Amino acid sequence: MSQTGNRVRPKVIVTRKLPDTIETRMAELFDVTLNLKDVPFTADQLKDAISKADVLVPTVTDNIDADVIAAAGENLKMIANFGAGVDHIDVDAAQAKGVAVTNTPGVLTEDTADLTMALLLSVPRRLFEGEKILRAGEWTGWTPTFLMGHRIEGKRLGIIGMGRIGQAVARRAKAFNLQVHYHKRTRLPEQSEADLEATYWDDLDEMLTRMDFVSVNCPLTDDTHHLLNRARLKKLQPHAVLINTARGEIIDEEALADLIEVGRIAGAGLDVFEEEPQINPKLLELDNVVLLPHMGSATIEARVAMGEKVLINTRAFADGHRPPDRVIPG
Ligand code: 8YV
Repeated sequence: MSQTGNRVRPKVIVTRKLPDTIETRMAELFDVTLNLKDVPFTADQLKDAISKADVLVPTVTDNIDADVIAAAGENLKMIANFGAGVDHIDVDAAQAKGVAVTNTPGVLTEDTADLTMALLLSVPRRLFEGEKILRAGEWTGWTPTFLMGHRIEGKRLGIIGMGRIGQAVARRAKAFNLQVHYHKRTRLPEQSEADLEATYWDDLDEMLTRMDFVSVNCPLTDDTHHLLNRARLKKLQPHAVLINTARGEIIDEEALADLIEVGRIAGAGLDVFEEEPQINPKLLELDNVVLLPHMGSATIEARVAMGEKVLINTRAFADGHRPPDRVIPG
């Protein structure tokens, strides 16, 4: 920490390039080290950064595991994640070292739900197949039977995880006249369920066998890793479409690709992958799969709001207050 006038300026190290306005404000408020070249840190660079910082600002591309946290210096007081998901941070190890972890919830909800709906429309309506044909100069004109897809209206959507993003998806799905179903560890309060006109399934397998579309909107934890494993994916109906805008590791990607290839699942819309930025080559071969490069929160509005949350959390900590978006382990 350094001091300017009455103000304490924590040493903040940011691992990736953030929106300009956020970086400028950080430079005004903190003793900040930015990564203007935006080259991701290696594990050694992360250890070096964490050994020097009061506050580390990582993103989903940084693996802040127990080994990295063990390299933290005496000064490190907070890991202020730029992003809502904290599956790339060992929150327990941080807690054990007395280091607070914060995230940026709430400000990327609507954008991620929009992207979920975009995929939910794109796959059944074959939008990207059409785009590809047109750009390749292969479109010979309208015909009554060309690129027929499936209507989404009136179908059943099963949402896995009904937190902020799941509920935002449910609200949109209602407007499209889908029947909303959901599975969650803890059932929503009666009123929320009634407002969303959502049907609860305690048993995920039971829900999966009955849905036309399934959307993954839960966080990645030890419990949700490969939640949709091969056996579970086989429960889906052959006409079902699976959408994932949460985390790739929640689905066994290899099994998903196999089952789509043999027609046991109709298609998928994926914004997240098990080994980002590597994409399973089998998925790249499939026409009925839409693949996006982790764009759920990629709006200027969301990314600036995420940065503002990092600023608020860091400033609160520097001023001796409890940061508002503290992640509680466990
Ligand atoms: C972010 C996300 O882009 O916030 C999250 O959890 O998955 C993304 O929308 C990313 O995490 C930024 O670190």
